[in-house]
Order: sequence, then C-alpha cells, then structure tokens
Amino acid sequence: MKTVVPPLKSQGIKTKLVPLIASITPEYQGRWIEPFLGTGVVAFNEAPRETLLNDTNPHIVQFYKDIQGGEITPESVRAYLEEEGEHLRNADEDGYVHFRKVKDRFNAEHRSLDFLFLSRSGFNGMMRFNKKGDWNIPFCKKPNRFSPGYITKIVNQVDSVSTIIKPEWEFTSEDFQNTIEKAGKDDVVYCDPPYFGRYVDYYNGWTEEDEERLFLVLSKTPARFILSTWHHNDFRPNPMIDKYWNRFNLVTRDHFYHSGAKLENRRSVVETLVFNFESQQVDADEEEPVQLALV
Ligand SMILES: C[S@@+](CC[C@H](N)C(=O)[O-])C[C@H]1O[C@@H](n2cnc3c(N)ncnc32)[C@H](O)[C@@H]1O
Repeated sequence: MKTVVPPLKSQGIKTKLVPLIASITPEYQGRWIEPFLGTGVVAFNEAPRETLLNDTNPHIVQFYKDIQGGEITPESVRAYLEEEGEHLRNADEDGYVHFRKVKDRFNAEHRSLDFLFLSRSGFNGMMRFNKKGDWNIPFCKKPNRFSPGYITKIVNQVDSVSTIIKPEWEFTSEDFQNTIEKAGKDDVVYCDPPYFGRYVDYYNGWTEEDEERLFLVLSKTPARFILSTWHHNDFRPNPMIDKYWNRFNLVTRDHFYHSGAKLENRRSVVETLVFNFESQQVDADEEEPVQLALV
C-alpha cells in the first residue's frame, strides 16, 4: 500500500519504517496513542478511529489542529504558497530577504502557514529550533522553491491528511509521561522519542533521565506499546538497549543515511522496534531492509 506522506518534514521522520511498524501492530479496540508525534507520518498511515496525538513542539500540534478545525485547507495552502512563493522568487539576495521575513514573522506570531513555509523551504527538510525556541534552519537557497508542481504536491499532502484527521482525534502538547499515563489496556502506544546520544535541540533535548522515565512509564502501562529507537551504528551500540530495552521483544532493520553522493559517506544505523507483546507478523517481504532479524 502507498505510504501517506505528511506536509511537514523533519530529519527524524519515520516514513520508511511505516510498513514495519504496521506489520507488528496488534489488533486493538482502543486508541492509537503517540506521545512523540513529529510529522505525524505513522499516525496518518495507521489512520485510527480514535487517537491521542501529542508533541511538546506546539507548532506541530497547532498545525494539525488548524487542519482539523478547517482553519487550514488545501485551498488556503495553495493561495498562501502561491503568494509567498512569488515574493520569494522576486526577493533580493536570491530569495533570502523574503525567507528571513517569513522566519521573523513565524518567530513572533507562530502562524501555522508560516511554519509550513519554513518546513518546506529550509535546508534538507530539517526542523530545528534554537535555545529561545526560534526556527533555526537556514534557507535552502532556492528562490524558485515554490514552483507550481511543488505547491501542488504540498496541497495534495494537506488534502490527504485533512481527510484522514477526524473531528474526534485528540491533540495535546505536554510531556510524554502524562500522555502515556492516560493509556488503558485496549490502547496501543507508539513511541518515537528523540534518540539518546544523537541529535538535540530546543524541542528535542533527550537525556538519560528521560530515557529512564520512558522505561519506567512504559514498564507500568497496561497498554501494548511499540518503541522506535536505534540499536547500533557503524561506530557503537546504543547503551540504552542493554540497560532498558532488551527485556522486551525487539525487531531490527538496517537504515542507510546518505550524506552527499559518495559511497564512503554512507552511514548505516540499525533501527529497532521494541514491543511488549507477542507478534508473529514481522514483515520480511519488504524491499527496503538490508537486514531484518529478530534479536
Ligand atoms: C523523533 S521525533 C518523532 C518523529 C515522528 N515519529 C515522525 O515520523 O515524524 C521526536 C518528537 O518528540 C518530541 N519531543 C521531544 N521531547 C518530548 C517530550 N519530553 N514529550 C513529548 N514530546 C517530545 C519532539 O518535538 C519531536 O517532534
């Protein structure tokens, strides 16, 4: 089945893991709960009836609430991107002057459409905020970024998520522990926290204490859970696996990060799904994984 791609981008996006997550997801009667929503790609592909979706980043939550409430529609996104794209094309310093204007406006007013603009015109589709919580990704340096084809692609992504998000879906912006503590025995909790020992910013600080809190709250939850984390990379193992996660079930798969075109710049990280239930359904037929093994 084709994976639904959300309109927001971030470096931690789990698009490639969606089929693997779906293949181990058990049948459930309750809610699909995500304490670390990010771009929402996993929830949108799961398309649950009832859900609780949370992220400490209020801009992500507001963006999807605005779609849910009809404040953002495919039509309003098209009109906005056409106008802002035109300003970008005509702005001095190869568009940078207008990029900076939108960035400053977003940092002052936090409008969801400006958030979308920054997410889709920043360097490499990254999302990062500085110590003050201001947008901190530079311009992709493409004044023609919002071409008619690119706008249509984004509008279609907004259109597909607006048909998936239901009026009864609940969005919150709080610490993950509160969200997980709301889970009951019929719910499934999918956790994708910032990775310990990797990338950190204003909304993605993650310490060993956070990992321990996550372990403790997941150990107590009556719900079934699935946790994404990294198992090891080319250089070292993730110490949290032995410390906390090895006592549950684990399924791993290789994932390659490219940096530049050269093969020698290729880095691999083995991603893991940790889960607290029996699953017979690990999908071994995918094209992508180089290695897929129960450990
Ligand atoms: C790895 S990303 C999630 C990526 C998402 N699964 C996707 O595919 O786009 C982790 C998310 O957790 C959020 N986050 C960080 N610390 C948090 C906390 N203490 N409680 C809730 N959310 C948190 C970040 O803002 C970020 O959006």
